[in-house]
Amino acid sequence: MKYDTVEAFRAKRDEAVDFIQGETDFQPEYLLILGTGLGQLAEEIEAEHIISYDDIPHFPVSTVESHAGKLIFGKLGGKNVVAMQGRFHYYEGYTMQQIAFPVRVAKSIGAQTLLVSNACGGLNPNFSRGDIMLITDHINFLGDNPLIGPNDDDLGPRFPDMSEPYTERLLELAETVALEHAIKMHQGVYLAVTGPMLETKAEYRYMRQLGADVVGMSTVPEVITAVHMGMDVLGISVITDECFPDALEPVEIEDVLAAAAMAEPQMTQVIINVLERL
Ligand code: HPA
Repeated sequence: MKYDTVEAFRAKRDEAVDFIQGETDFQPEYLLILGTGLGQLAEEIEAEHIISYDDIPHFPVSTVESHAGKLIFGKLGGKNVVAMQGRFHYYEGYTMQQIAFPVRVAKSIGAQTLLVSNACGGLNPNFSRGDIMLITDHINFLGDNPLIGPNDDDLGPRFPDMSEPYTERLLELAETVALEHAIKMHQGVYLAVTGPMLETKAEYRYMRQLGADVVGMSTVPEVITAVHMGMDVLGISVITDECFPDALEPVEIEDVLAAAAMAEPQMTQVIINVLERL
C-alpha cells in the first residue's frame, strides 16, 4: 500500500503524540516552521523543553545541513509555541505524508495556528535579495500533495476549500506590525517546486507569467496540511536570490544562507510582534 490506511496513520501519530506528552506537558498553541537559514528565531524562544526529531517515533529526520532537527517548546512573544528547527523537503526523498506528519502531530498536541517561514527566489522585479514577503497565496507545482491517499474525516474534509489558505486576519496583523516598525515587507504569491536544482531562465520567465512573485522548495505541503485541519496560517518568505531571467546570476547555497541571515532580524521581529498581538 502506497499510503497508510487511516488506522495506520492514527497509530503512528498517536505514538508520536504519546512520546512527546510523556516528555513534556507543555501545550503549544502555535506551530513555527523555520526555513533555510532562518533557524535563529528559535534562539529567541524561552525554551521549556527540546526534543530531537530522532527520538520521536515515526518523525522524519532532516538531512540538510542548514536545518537543525529539533522541536523547541517554549514561550515566544508571550505565547506558547512549538518550533520545528529544521523542516522536511520533498527533494530529500520524503513522502508528502512524512512532510505533513509533524504538522498533524503539532495539531494533536494543541497547535491551532501555523507560522511558517522560508527562503525563496524572487521573480517579481520589484523584489530585492534580502527583502521579506508575506505570502498571500500559493501555487502548488510539486506534482504531489499531502492529502492524496485515504482521508481521515476526523481531521478534515476530503475536498478542503483553498479560497483563503493564508488567514486574512493574520495577514492584516503582520502588515500593521511591519508598518509600525518601518519594516519593508512585500506581499505576493509563492510557487512551490520540488527542486533540488534551481530553475532555468525559461522556467523563471514562465513562473512569473503564471502569476508567481517568488519560487521555493517548501511550505506548500505544510500549509495544505494545516488548512485541511482548519488551522490558521501565516507565511513569510525571505528573498535570497533574484530570479530575473534577463539578468540571471549563478547562485550558491552560501549566497542563499547569507541573504537569509540578512533578512532574519526583520522576519523575526514581525513574527514576535504578531505573536505578542494575538
Ligand atoms: N528557486 C527555488 N527555490 C529557491 C530559490 C530559487 O531561486 N532560492 C531559494 N530557494
